This record gives sequence, C-alpha cells and structure tokens, in this order.
Amino acid sequence: MHLFLTIPFLSAAAALSPRFYQDATQVALQDGVIKVPVELGVMSRCPDALICEAVFSEVLKQVGPSKVDLKLVYVAELNSTEPDFGVTCMHGPGECAGNVQQLCAARYSSKWWDFVRCQNDQGRFQVGLPDVAFECAKEVGIDWETSGVGNCAGLDGSGKASEGVDLLRKSLLRGKALGIKKSCTVLINHEKVCVHDGSWQECEGGHDVDDFVKQINHEYERANGGSSGWY
Ligand SMILES: *[C@@H]1O[C@H](CO)[C@@H](O)[C@H](O)[C@H]1NC(C)=O
Repeated sequence: MHLFLTIPFLSAAAALSPRFYQDATQVALQDGVIKVPVELGVMSRCPDALICEAVFSEVLKQVGPSKVDLKLVYVAELNSTEPDFGVTCMHGPGECAGNVQQLCAARYSSKWWDFVRCQNDQGRFQVGLPDVAFECAKEVGIDWETSGVGNCAGLDGSGKASEGVDLLRKSLLRGKALGIKKSCTVLINHEKVCVHDGSWQECEGGHDVDDFVKQINHEYERANGGSSGWY
C-alpha cells in the first residue's frame, strides 16, 4: 500500500520538474525505476579524481546509464577573501574554473560526462583552461554559447560567472553535508564505500570495476523491488 501511494506522486513530481525533484529528494526516477545515486567527491585537477573517473567510466559502461544517477561533488573551501570564486580550490583557481565548467556542463547537457572525460584526457593541469573547455565541448557536441553551459560557466570559459560560481559553492556545501573530505570519495546511495587518496582505502566492498558494479546492482534491485521492478 505504501508503494502504491508513493509511486504516482513520485512520477508526477518527476514529470513536472526533474531537476527540482532530484535536488529535493536525491532520488532519481526515470521510466518508473529508481536510479542508484552515485556521487564522486572530487577536485577537477586531482590525480585521485582522474583515477576514480576513469574507473567509473568502465562501471557506467557495465551497469548501463539507465540504472545510475552519477554526480560529481566538489571538494573545496569557502573563502570570502578569494576574489574570483569566493572559494579556495586545492590545486589553484584553475581547478575552481574546471569545477565550475564541469558543474555547468552537468546542469545543461546530457553529454557532461564525456566533457569531463575529454578534459581529463588532456592531462589534469589542462582541466579548467578555457581553450580546453571550448575544444572538449566541441568534441562531445555541446554548443558552448547556445546550450546554457557558456552562460553558466562564462562565455569566456573562465568559470567566473555567477551561476556557475553559485553551483560550485552549493556543491562543496553538499559535499560537506555528505561528509566528503577527500578527493576521490565514492558514495553509492549516499553511503561512502571507497576512497582513493594515493591508493584505494576504506573499500570494504572492493575497488575493482566489478566490485562497484556489484554494489550498484545490489542497490538497484533493493530500490526497485527485485530485478523485475515494480511494474
Ligand atoms: C583565501 O584566499 C586568499 C586569496 O586567494 C588566500 O591568500 C588565502 O590563503 C585563502 N585562505 C584559505 C584558508 O585558503
């Protein structure tokens, strides 16, 4: 009975406003299934983040995008004396710019993950550079100017536009609320399951692609009432 009452409400809410809905409840619903939330606590120029993101590209390929709601959450500190972002990023302002570009891509484009992977492929010190952002946007098929990404992250690619900076501040606060301290921290269903900090640590369920796949599939079936789902 509980499910019966809940599902129509969730579907209606999701149909009306997916973004609001996700922000409000942190549960992603699509086609009547609940996706498993996976959050990676990262810093865009951090070597540990690049390792995590490479691993999760494989994980996504194996579980399929329809089961997972993947988000990057940025590790940084609020700093009112920092002039451009009001945020200090460990690897410098260029990293803050990279974080903003990625957040804006995620907000306005379904191709955001390819965008992040493209930036990473250029090497971590290239992440955040405007020209790299423009090139990667082009490569993955995001129109910087018309997609909304550019307005969010700055048409000049600097990351210093108010909408993007606001997303960065919210993201780091969300990371703190989730207890994320290190890049890279892996959360599945909002639970910390693994950290990569120089090496893999605190990974009770393992840290291979298969281990993450297994954990995601387990959460998916738990959330959707077995492999057949609700419907
Ligand atoms: C805050 O930002 C200023 C200007 O970038 C910097 O000099 C200072 O070290 C930062 N403080 C912290 C705690 O990171």
